[in-house]
Order: sequence, then C-alpha cells, then structure tokens
Amino acid sequence: MRTTKLQRAGREWKACCPFHDEKSPSFTVSDEKGFYHCFGCGAHGDAIRWMTDQRGLSFMDAVKELAAEAGMEVPAPDPRAAQRAQERAGLHDVMQAAQDWFAANLAGAGGTKAREYLQSRGFNARTVERFGFGYAPAERQALKGALSQFDESLLVEAGLRIEVDDRDPYDRFRSRLMLPIHDARGRVIAFGGRILDSDTNAPKYLNSPDTALFDKGRTLYNLHRAGPASRQTGRLIVVEGYMDAIALAAHGFEDAVAPLGTALTEQQIELLWRMVETPVLCFDGDAAGQRAAMRAIVRALPLLRPAHSLAIVRLPAGLDPDDLLRQQGPRAMEKLLDTPATLLDTLWDFERAAQPLETPEDKAGLKQRLLDHVERIDHPDIRALYKRELLERFSAFAFPRRERTAPSPRGRQGGDWRKPAIPRLSPEAAQRLRGAQAGSRDQLVAAVIAGLMRFPDEALRHAEQLGRFVQLDPKAGPAVDAVLEAVEMLEPGENLPISSLDGPIAPPDNTRFAFLGQGTDPQVAREQLAEAVALLVERPALEAALAAATARFETDPEGAFVEQQRLLKRKLEFERRLGQMSSRRAASAAQADSTRRGETGPANGADTD
Ligand code: UTP
Ligand code: MN
Repeated sequence: MRTTKLQRAGREWKACCPFHDEKSPSFTVSDEKGFYHCFGCGAHGDAIRWMTDQRGLSFMDAVKELAAEAGMEVPAPDPRAAQRAQERAGLHDVMQAAQDWFAANLAGAGGTKAREYLQSRGFNARTVERFGFGYAPAERQALKGALSQFDESLLVEAGLRIEVDDRDPYDRFRSRLMLPIHDARGRVIAFGGRILDSDTNAPKYLNSPDTALFDKGRTLYNLHRAGPASRQTGRLIVVEGYMDAIALAAHGFEDAVAPLGTALTEQQIELLWRMVETPVLCFDGDAAGQRAAMRAIVRALPLLRPAHSLAIVRLPAGLDPDDLLRQQGPRAMEKLLDTPATLLDTLWDFERAAQPLETPEDKAGLKQRLLDHVERIDHPDIRALYKRELLERFSAFAFPRRERTAPSPRGRQGGDWRKPAIPRLSPEAAQRLRGAQAGSRDQLVAAVIAGLMRFPDEALRHAEQLGRFVQLDPKAGPAVDAVLEAVEMLEPGENLPISSLDGPIAPPDNTRFAFLGQGTDPQVAREQLAEAVALLVERPALEAALAAATARFETDPEGAFVEQQRLLKRKLEFERRLGQMSSRRAASAAQADSTRRGETGPANGADTD
C-alpha cells in the first residue's frame, strides 16, 4: 500500500483512513490476516479490494496490477489473448518512452515557447510535472529518431507515426504541447496535443487514434488520479476538456475527469458510476453547452438504475471551468458544485425552453418530447417515477387555471395568511404584459386586463371563463393569456396588484369603466369586473353564433333568419349592458368623491390609479 503512509502499531499497521477524511488514524492493516479495516468508516477488504475501491480498477486490472508488482504475470486465458498481451506490453513501452521524450523536450532548449505558454495559462511547475506535460517538436522525423530502438511498425501501431499508402511515415504530433492520457492503472495509453499559436488553421487539439491500448470511448482523462480522490470527497466532477480537469486539480479539485473530445459514452457513464452514484457534469451555460448536457442525459436515460444518476452544473455562459477558476476563483466553483441540478430538472428546463409554448399544439409538443424521454428509460420503477413527475410538471404548466379555480380553502381567506416574499415577474412575462396593455385597442379588453391586474384574485375566480375567451378570440386572446400567466406568479390568496410585481408596467389609463376608478368601492368594483369578464367572454361566442347563423342562410333560410333575429337581440342587450357599465362610471365616481375618506380594505391599498 504505497499510496498510504502506514505506522507500525504492534503486529499491525495503522494510518489515517484513505477512504474518509480524518485527523487521527483509525485505519488498520494486518499483514498476517491479509486485510485492512477502518474503525471510522467501516472500509474493509483485502489487497484486491483495495485496488478496486481505492484505485478504482476493475477486478481483472487489480489482479494484473498486483501480479505485476509481485513480478508475476497473470496467465492469459487463451493463446491469442496471450499474444495480444505481448503486443500491448510492447506498446506500453513505446508510449512510456514517448512520454519521457516529450517531457524532456519541454524541459530542453526547444521547449521555450511551450513553457511560456504553460506559464501564460497559469500552470505552475508542480502542475506541469504532475500532469506530465511535454512538447513535440516541429520536425516530421524527430520522434522516429529519438525512439529508434522501436520498430517503425510499432510506432505506427502506437499511433505516434502516420503511414499513408506508400508514402514515408511521419510523426503525428508536431509543434504541439503534449499531454499523456493514462488508463485507470496509470499507464500512458495515448496523447493529446495542443497547438501553441492560435493563428494556424490546424485543429486546436489532436488526440491519438484508437489503438490496441486506447479506446477513446472507454477512457476518461485523469481517472487514475480522480478515482482515488473521489473516495475522499464522495464526488466526481466531469468536465468537457482535459485542460479543465488540470485547472481544477491545480485549484485543489482533484476529483475531476474529462472525456476525450466526444460526448460521454455509455461505457464512460458506467465507469463514472463505479466511482460515485451521482457524478456531477459541468457544462457551459450557453446554448451549445446545454445541448451537450442534453446529449449526456439522453445517453444516460436507458442506463439509469436505482440510486444512480447524473447531476448537472450549469456554468456562466461562455465560461469553461478553467476560465471560471481564473476569473472568479475556487470559491465560485465550489458554490456551483454544491448546488447542481438533478437530471430530471435539467431535462424539464431544457424541453420547456426548447420551443415556444403559445398554442395548444406547442404544449402538446412539449408533452410528447417529455414522454419520448421517459420511454428511453429501461428501468420500470424509474421510468414510472419520471413519467409521473414530468407529467405533473407539465399539467401544472399547461393547465394552471383549472387547478387554481378548484375551490381552495386557503385561497379564499385572503389576508389571513401571508406569503413571505413578493414574487417578481420574469422579464418575458412583464414584456408580454406591457405589450398586452399597449396593444389592446379594444376598450373592453383593455378595461378587463387593467381590472384583472388590479384584482388578480378575480382572474383566478374567472379563470375558466377567461381561459375559454383565450381560445375563442385569436386577436385579444394572447393579451388575456399574458395576464393569466402573470397571475400564476401569485400565491393563492395574494391580492397584490400585478403591476406591483414589476414596477415599469404603466397604470391603466382607461377611465370608461367604473371598476377602474380609484374611488369605486372595492366590492362594487369586483362585481362590475365580474360582469365585464362575462361580457368579454360572451362577445366572441355571440359573434361566432351570428356568423354560423348567417352561413346557414343558404341551406335553411327560415331557421337561420329566426336564429339571427334572436342573436341580434342578444347583441343589442349586450351593447346596452356594456354602455351601462361605462355610464355607471360617472355616477360611482361622483358618489365616491363624497365617501372617499371612509374607504378602507386590502384591495384599496393596492390601487395604482
Ligand atoms: P475546447 O475547445 O472547449 O477547449 O474543447 P478547452 O478544453 O477549453 O481548451 P483550451 O482551454 O482552449 O486549451 C474541449 C475539448 O474538446 C476536445 C478536447 O478534448 C478538448 O479538451 N477537442 C477540442 C478536440 O479534440 N479537438 C479540437 O480541435 C478541439
Ligand atoms: Mn478552456
């Protein structure tokens, strides 16, 4: 156990436990009994268990590693496998030799520019050393010359040289800052190379091709260091770039890995789950980063199993972890890592924001997308739970009014209970509201909108009628819908005028309707508003019925005529009631002037006229 410092204690050894954080040693190792045990956290096992749990190796890798340390070879199961093992051993030697050479180049005379670059990025000597940075010179045959003890074919097989048809092979990595990529056992299996000057049009990063040693989709950069570190922290961070993993380590976050220039694969997700139950994925907050997060999530859905998931940290837009650490420091990173979003939250937020959600068709589209995701989940319990939770969120979002109109004992009591904070309208909602007010040239619509903003609880009371109006009237419907949306911001029983949720909304300037008047008794104003809502909803219904009757004239002139007469009478009645509403304005305003001193009540304080 060369990774943990042991002290002799009688016939056994003891140390501070590498599996949990502690100050005084409760971890014991008994050579005689052949196991380790921690009295603090209960970690327990033999040498193989040590390798799988502390180092994160698979069982076979652990056996091989221990055998190698004891100078033994694990017998390969069949001759062909034995031959492959032989070849791989050769490749491992090549890769290590290449690593030594790259590192020497960086330290040498040719490495000046690369050293300057590393310094400009803020990587100190210790980080450069730990992560094995190196440099590949510009010459096309430099590596071949330096590694002349190996056959050309082996160098090609190792991915270090490129052979195209019958042309002379040449070095793959030239004029690049080099980074070794290790397997879980800490052996170099591949390289990444970064260009130094950004003005060439070569790709910024170049990776080794897949070889007998390197399978990009099954490798995670920095896993051999982050695996053991995650044992201590109980956390595993996944970032998009290897420079990010290094920057994190340089700032004390040792438990970070990165895929190698591709989206997370299934195998990589399984690898992560061998370390922790909920690895934390960090993505850029911009649109591309969020799409990348969704790719990882969609990949993970079929794999989800009890207690295993992904958590997602959304970084400020345009910043990767390296940028964030340099601009805002490790505390900012720590804060983000402390409050990651769940996989389900991320899924929901992404799909809600993915498309506009104005029409019923749009909303049905959202529901379909959510259900498509649910269908990808293999585990029956998790699938059922996701379905239920997502559909609940969908219903709350798509049918908020119905829910609120259900008689709620709390909702009607008004001021008896208080909500601690005043909600704020989202900028979009405020914008739509302002647009709704400005855009309604129709007197009745404008008045009702202003009235509902003044008495938002009335909007809840008439939510069903108003919802019908939204469906019936394509012109004014969206404006009323905007009000209903704003009303959802309020807690049941909250009577704040909506305009107080967002200062800049102009107070209504419509003076034709009594219920908007400052002096109107709130009880009377509410009754009139209710009538206005009824009129508002009646109008498009009346109009539609009239149009239908007119259309029927061809086929049923007599019946259509009778119907038309009836409807026209109703329309006249409608106009009369509407006119009455406006004329009542003058009367009640006059009356209010004389009684103004006496008026009190919660709704009055809300008056913004
Ligand atoms: P980024 O372009 O985000 O680079 O690629 P970065 O990690 O921030 O690197 P710096 O800070 O500019 O040095 C993220 C990852 O995508 C892969 C690499 O694995 C990189 O770490 N990549 C990117 C490539 O493989 N090839 C490329 O040309 C670019
Ligand atoms: Mn970067």
